[in-house]
Formats: sequence, C-alpha cells, structure tokens
Amino acid sequence: MSRIPVIAGNWKMNLLSSDAAALAKSVADAFAGLSGIECVVCPVATSLHAVSGVLAGSSVGLGGQNCYHEESGAFTGELSPQMLQDAGCGWVIIGHSERRKIFGEGDALLNRKLRYALQCGLKVMFCIGETLEEREGGQMDDVLKTQVVEGLAGLSEADFAGVVVAYEPVWAIGTGVTASPEQAQDAHAFTRGLVAEHFGAAVAEGLRIQYGGSVKPDNAAELIAKPDVDGFLVGGAALKADSFNAILSAAAQA
Ligand code: PGA
Repeated sequence: MSRIPVIAGNWKMNLLSSDAAALAKSVADAFAGLSGIECVVCPVATSLHAVSGVLAGSSVGLGGQNCYHEESGAFTGELSPQMLQDAGCGWVIIGHSERRKIFGEGDALLNRKLRYALQCGLKVMFCIGETLEEREGGQMDDVLKTQVVEGLAGLSEADFAGVVVAYEPVWAIGTGVTASPEQAQDAHAFTRGLVAEHFGAAVAEGLRIQYGGSVKPDNAAELIAKPDVDGFLVGGAALKADSFNAILSAAAQA
C-alpha cells in the first residue's frame, strides 16, 4: 500500500500573527507547485484565524498544537476541538514531548484527548518517542510500547483513518542531532509492528508514521527514502519558508 507522506510544521510558541500569515502564504505558494504529499501547518492558537484566511483556497491543512477533551466549560486556558474547527483547523497535534514533559501530560490524558478530537472530526498527529536516557538504558521498546498501547487504546479501525503517529525521539528535538535514517527506520518499523499486534495488520499497513526531530532540508531526502518513514513533523526548520519549502520539495520528489 502506498501511504501519502504528510509533512507538518509545528510552529510551537513562535511568530505573531502577521509573521505567521506571511509564512503560511509562502508555504501555500510553494505547495501549490508540488504533488504527491500532504502539508499541514500548526501555528499558535492566536494566529489560527489569520493563517486560516491566508490558506483559503489552498490545500495546505491547518492544525492546532493541543486541545482538551471537553467541548466547553470551566477549563481556564484550554481549547476544545470545536474551537479549533471554528478557527479553521482540520488537524491537531496531541502528545508532543513538550506537552508530556513540561506540562506533565500522561498517556491516559492523551488518550482521552485523542479519542475526543477524533470524535469531533479532527485528524490527529499523535506524538511518541523516547528520551536519550531511555534509549541508552535499553528501555526504548517498552516506552514506545506503552505510548502506543495506552495512547491509542480504544481506537477502532475506522478511527485510524484520522490518525498519524509522529515518532519523535526526544533527544533529537531542537538539538540539531537527527536520528540516522537507520535509527528512524528501526523505530518506525517497530512502531508499525506494535500497531499491527494491537490494532491489526490492515491498520498498521495504512498508518502514516512521521519522523520528527531536527529535520532539515539536507537530511529530509534520506529520511523519507526509508520505507516506514511517511512524512515529517518539523519544528525549527518549519519557521523559515526557505527551509520548510525545501523539505516539502524533498518529500515530493521521493
Ligand atoms: P525540531 O522539532 O524540528 O525543532 O527538532 C520537532 C518537533 O518538536 O516537532
């Protein structure tokens, strides 16, 4: 089965709305000339409306970086999937390692968020990945297993149509140290095997697994060439049109 690569920019807590809109415009212009890949940008919540306006008429998708598992109510500081949709989003990132580590979000909470976002009709990029300590301590397989089995618990085969898994080794995020193509392929194949074991072979075969962690224009081509690497979740290099558009081009040529 061929899986269409999905390349997403996670802009994290960066860019005011005018800069976000300008970046989105440049991405949309570049993406219009490419084929065979999907593209999503994930600005901060306060820029979603502005970016959504810029992306009207483009096939670049818009995503939030987080959401809560309730529609509305006394949840100060949170955003619901419905609010993301109201701002033009079709996607949301759930379980980024920064949410897990800095904000203490665990697998059970992330699973509730994932299931609710899917129920509301959002597509989800669900992030997993081990720390350096876990990798060096030989716990990588167990960590990925827990994140996959507990994080994706309760999803039906149909639900998986709205799910992309992002494998992001924490030691590669924002560090400039990228996983080698072989390390990425190994982890992606292991993750796909876990999904096959727990959710079925057909689900695993169709599931897109993005790599994230210091993806740059000069390593994108060799990473995307690996059979189980089905796209990227890009942080730092997504903040500049030149580098993100070069990553899009590398993926489109793969
Ligand atoms: P990076 O971030 O590309 O800056 O390493 C990736 C991510 O955190 O999604």
